[in-house]
Amino acid sequence: MSFPLVSSPGDPLSKTGLLQDSFGRTHNNLRISVTDRCNLRCEYCMPEEVEFLDHRELLTFEEISEVAQVAVGLGINKIRLTGGEPLLRRDLPVLVKFLTGIPQITDLSLTTNGLLLKNQVKKLKEAGLRRLTISLDTLDPGRFRQLCKRDGLDQVLQGIEAALQEGFEKIKLNTVCIKGINDQDIVPLAEYARSRKIELRFIEYMPIGANPWERNKVLFAHEILEILETQVAKLFPGAAYDPTAPAMEFTYQDGQGSIGIIASISRPFCQHCNRVRLTAEGKFRNCLFALEEVDLKPLIRPDFQPEEIRKAMISSVEGKWEGHEINTARFIKPGRTMHTIGG
Ligand code: 5AD
Ligand code: SF4
Repeated sequence: MSFPLVSSPGDPLSKTGLLQDSFGRTHNNLRISVTDRCNLRCEYCMPEEVEFLDHRELLTFEEISEVAQVAVGLGINKIRLTGGEPLLRRDLPVLVKFLTGIPQITDLSLTTNGLLLKNQVKKLKEAGLRRLTISLDTLDPGRFRQLCKRDGLDQVLQGIEAALQEGFEKIKLNTVCIKGINDQDIVPLAEYARSRKIELRFIEYMPIGANPWERNKVLFAHEILEILETQVAKLFPGAAYDPTAPAMEFTYQDGQGSIGIIASISRPFCQHCNRVRLTAEGKFRNCLFALEEVDLKPLIRPDFQPEEIRKAMISSVEGKWEGHEINTARFIKPGRTMHTIGG
């Protein structure tokens, strides 16, 4: 590609050549959604009936890679592929290969619901993927169906085993905790993950799904910790505590593994946010909860305009707000649900 990867000094738009906002946050982490389709219908994420994007609207792998190159020129070095369910996108390893070929990207990962993982894990690894996050909210087939509206727990568990056998550098599990729905799964999930040396991350339930969100359904970080400490083992804060990481890390006192808690509601990490997002149809978002987004598509098709895309990213990040206002009366739920943004 012939466009410059680093912005020139004296650039009127970005003084540093990085994606910096007015609160001093630098963004090096890009989440790319490759499809809005999903083969589950998780209660907290999406409605049963959805009108999905037409295939022609999706950015092609070449287009995604070109946008990623521009972002890399602005300091992005971490990329996560998400969906919907990213493994529904045909030939995803081709995109993984494109992205692992960009030397500045030091960390490429994938979030999946695991349903299709078993048959794809080898190709993903061969394409250079080293890290995986798999969503798993319960080990009970009945509750899986209740929460995800489809069967599939067995397939997910087989996917996890296949990923373990394939020898990925890091495999994480994500569990969204909802009071009265999967509280009883916390302990079995913790035991399951710990016996396999997988890091399990509990996520506070956020108002980004299709169904009405209620604060009293959120299982808060301190409640999750209490359940784990009384029923699994004592925990203490991990040694490598990183304020920029959304997950608070804890290690089991008996030395057997660690967990993370993403306390998006009780301890928002917006102050340290380093993330921007690209939707499957090419919208650039500076926050998961952003009410506005920039359409990059006209800057991608019919002609790819790297300089215009660069400017659009810089000005979007410059205009980023301080953080989500979930804990205030001012909160407005974004028009998009999670499956169209990417987890
Ligand atoms: N609250 C918290 N996390 C969510 N996810 C999706 N919807 C929500 C929500 N309402 C996360 C889950 C899932 C990933 C794809 O997105 O962790 O694993
Ligand atoms: Fe699909 Fe993930 Fe949303 Fe569940 S949370 S419906 S698996 S995109």
